[in-house]
Amino acid sequence: MLRPHVFPDHETMSQDAAERLVSFLRQKPDALLCLATGSTPMDTYRRLALHRAAVPGLFDQVRVVKLDEWGGLAMEDPASCEQYLRRSLVDVLGLRHRYVAFNSLPADPQAECRRIAAWLERNGPIDLCVLGLGLNGHLGFNEPAAALQPHAHVARLSDSSLSHSMLDRASHRPEFGLTLGMADLLLARQVILLVSGPAKRGPLERLLEGPISTDFPASLLQLHGNLALLCDQAAMSG
Ligand code: GLP
Repeated sequence: MLRPHVFPDHETMSQDAAERLVSFLRQKPDALLCLATGSTPMDTYRRLALHRAAVPGLFDQVRVVKLDEWGGLAMEDPASCEQYLRRSLVDVLGLRHRYVAFNSLPADPQAECRRIAAWLERNGPIDLCVLGLGLNGHLGFNEPAAALQPHAHVARLSDSSLSHSMLDRASHRPEFGLTLGMADLLLARQVILLVSGPAKRGPLERLLEGPISTDFPASLLQLHGNLALLCDQAAMSG
């Protein structure tokens, strides 16, 4: 049974998440972080980056892997996960040389997934994974399906994902998704799942009360032994 930590608003939730990341990095400065994009974690990353001056050396060894990407958008597209992560954290902290990421426009998408999977095989597992909850229960682009993929793979995007607000600014519609797989996420030593806003009430309720099912990939997080589920009051029903 998942027990959410409920915060009065998005800001206090983000502050708590940022503090969890800081204390994790204090204990393991060379941690491998896997970071989601979307709108939910941006304030967390902004708050985390503010610790650069306050805690000297905090980010000197950290490594970051991008959770997922819109396939077919340019890396420079303002809607790409790449731009979200660079703007909020990677460029702010000067982490490019310790940052590994799907190329959004690969010549061979399957080969790109093999490249990321091989890198994670050598450098993983993920120490701390920050995730958001998709409206349809997706994690990254692990979309609801009869079967889920364990490792980096090319994903067929659901209509729900293709309606994501990130794409409002996209130059065109992405053709596919590139994402780490469910085993990669479940093998993370710690997971922080952030859920915010009234649009997430239904999905959060399903996560808290529904069965574990590939129809709702986030439900598999019920199997994770070290999950912090942080949400704001707006995401809680009733
Ligand atoms: C997007 C991304 C995910 C993100 C999720 C939730 O499609 N692929 O990585 O976590 O959907 O996004 P948001 O936080 O904007 O609701």
